[in-house]
Amino acid sequence: MTGLGIQASGFGLAGALVAGMLDAVPAASAEALLSGDARNAQKIYRLECAGCHGSGEPTPMGKSFGAPPLKDAALIAGRTDDQLIALFLKGTPKHPAPAGALTLLDAADMVAFLRGGLPSIADLFPEAAAYTAKSYPLAGPALVRAESLAGDELKPDERALTVFSVYAGEPPATGPRLVPQDPVQLDALPPKAKRGYVVFGSIPGGPVAMALLPDLSVLRLLSSNPAVAKAAPAVVGKGGREPGRRKPFVSKVSPDAARALTRLYARAAEAAALAAREEADRHLFDAPEKRNSP
Ligand code: HEC
Repeated sequence: MTGLGIQASGFGLAGALVAGMLDAVPAASAEALLSGDARNAQKIYRLECAGCHGSGEPTPMGKSFGAPPLKDAALIAGRTDDQLIALFLKGTPKHPAPAGALTLLDAADMVAFLRGGLPSIADLFPEAAAYTAKSYPLAGPALVRAESLAGDELKPDERALTVFSVYAGEPPATGPRLVPQDPVQLDALPPKAKRGYVVFGSIPGGPVAMALLPDLSVLRLLSSNPAVAKAAPAVVGKGGREPGRRKPFVSKVSPDAARALTRLYARAAEAAALAAREEADRHLFDAPEKRNSP
């Protein structure tokens, strides 16, 4: 079970293309992972999950319970394999355990199935060894700046964004490790190993993943939406830590995608800046040698 993508049918970023990424193609990692049997998972999904989660959007019954869509890269990348397996085997107070009990192998297949076809952190940062996930609400001056760059008011569901902070190192064989929001484990992540941030968004025409460098400029985009690739030259390398360096992206060939990407970047830069501030606070009292060690 890794965070990398079996292209399970129905989870449709198959053929995803990477813009601004010269050295790696996400599909290249596919052979690393046939640890899960997607067909087995698909059968279980139809029997045990589709009644609520549907095939794409949750069903009306699922919605009435508050079931989220599962084709959501931020949701799935924000859970460890262990968390998902526990959910599938035992359920949680908020979640029914499947009626036809799953074996550990079934649960592992299901993890691979849910991750398949969704962009993962390793697709955006092949050197990633560990990452954190946290949702940041945008309020006050951060919200004002984001809305001014977006050129529009942000809708309530746009006023929070999950930021994945990515660290390099020796990648575990199973793919980069999601580090829980636990102070001791977070403290062990060396700031010098930080490679950047990932956010997932949805723009007209499909989902998009955006990677930022630590200086908050755009490193790369990942999407199956061809308009994103066309807009990429107007986006990759732009932006930065200084709000003055953040200008709306302008693309003659793909103006709508550029506008939608500006909106996502406006939120991403503010949310990532909050993540960066939190990290700096965590390491405020580190000894200098610890701060500088790789
Ligand atoms: C009776 C309706 C129902 C069924 C059946 C169901 N779910 Fe859910 N699912 C929910 C609801 C409601 C939530 C939101 C509450 C929560 O997060 O647990 C949810 C949330 C989830 C989450 C996100 C959990 C998180 O940590 O945020 C995952 C993953 C998931 N379901 C997978 C599955 C899988 C896989 C199956 C089949 C084995 C399944 N569900 C069957 C209702 C259902």
